[in-house]
Amino acid sequence: MEFIDLKSQYLASRALIDGRIHAVLDHGQYILGPEVAELEARLAARTGARHCITVSSGTEALVIALMALGVKAGDEVITTPFSFIAAAEAVLLVGATPVFVDVEAATGNIDARLIAERITPRTRAILPVSLYGQPADMDAIEAIADPYGIAVIEDAAQSFGATYRGRHSCHLSTVGCTSFFPSKPLGCYGDGGALFTDDDVLAQAMREIRVHGQSHRYVHTRLGVGGRMDTLQCAVVLAKLDSFDWEIEQRRRAAADYDALLRHQVPVLAVRHDRTSVYAQYTVLVDERERVRAALTAAGIPSAVHYPVPIHHQGAYAHLAHGAAYPVAEGLARRVLSLPIGPFLQRADAQRVAEALLAACRPIDEAPPAMAPAAAAATATGTTTVTATAAITS
Ligand SMILES: Cc1ncc(COP(=O)(O)O)c(C=O)c1O
Repeated sequence: MEFIDLKSQYLASRALIDGRIHAVLDHGQYILGPEVAELEARLAARTGARHCITVSSGTEALVIALMALGVKAGDEVITTPFSFIAAAEAVLLVGATPVFVDVEAATGNIDARLIAERITPRTRAILPVSLYGQPADMDAIEAIADPYGIAVIEDAAQSFGATYRGRHSCHLSTVGCTSFFPSKPLGCYGDGGALFTDDDVLAQAMREIRVHGQSHRYVHTRLGVGGRMDTLQCAVVLAKLDSFDWEIEQRRRAAADYDALLRHQVPVLAVRHDRTSVYAQYTVLVDERERVRAALTAAGIPSAVHYPVPIHHQGAYAHLAHGAAYPVAEGLARRVLSLPIGPFLQRADAQRVAEALLAACRPIDEAPPAMAPAAAAATATGTTTVTATAAITS
């Protein structure tokens, strides 16, 4: 079993993907070829955004968004301490300071109720991450940002295709940034990403920044980066877009299978009732994670941890915490475990994963009699791996 089965995905769409790639090889416009504009038009239409600008990665999308908004040294950007490093990294790359706000225990997303108290005269943007494929509480975040004229940038690297109150991820705030890293729900075969906005001025700035701040050939009106997404990668995404809705359905079906198999036995991160997830990850909470992972590995089941160390505990970022604690982020970092998921994960696979997980997590007092003495001691001290709470489903 693969953690993310890109091979089956390729085989299912091989003719389309090969055809798209060969079309680029035939016309030879490897940079800003026709597939780039075609993909931008299709992604904009899909999300409802006025503008889509493809870029060389999700990280570059975040950097370009911050640059276009004029975020600079001395500014602060509120973000989450529990995510992939890219959001905090992008803020530092433009010279500003990430200000962390703890996350919700139920979803792992930034806790909107805690944001207002971290706003200062230096706050220039709020940068929530739509973790594991589900948007954060974007209306609540917008409501906090609006009166101050603060921009909201959605890091939607994991959530392209998800919805929030019927609207599309990437089109929920001032700017949306996504990634087409191969393992993302909509991935290419290398690096790629995209920016989304309704703001014409910002869109123009982001287009120019993507090409070295160039407004016309060799006319550089602003500081920029070399941030284009190449035509071949756009062609791959175009080919995959045709089956993306089916894939999202299959991801949700696989997640529903896990939900049913694990219900009341292992805590699962929640999907709120007013949004949908594309399940970039299906994440459970376990104690004794390393032991559970080892048992899964022994059963031939891959797993992953997103993310084992909260950002404020990373060496290059520790100074940003100023001694503050983010207890929910820290607790999740100790317990999260992502299971294999994807459109090609069969019911029988989910069953195998769930059985192995439940066996690994089985309360020690259910262990065979031969293990009883150690088990009894562990049970007495409460060190079993299953949390007795019901799985969180909304
Ligand atoms: C939440 C999040 N933000 C940003 C990124 C960065 O995307 P990329 O790898 O395309 O630079 C990732 C990718 O892993 C991510 O998961």
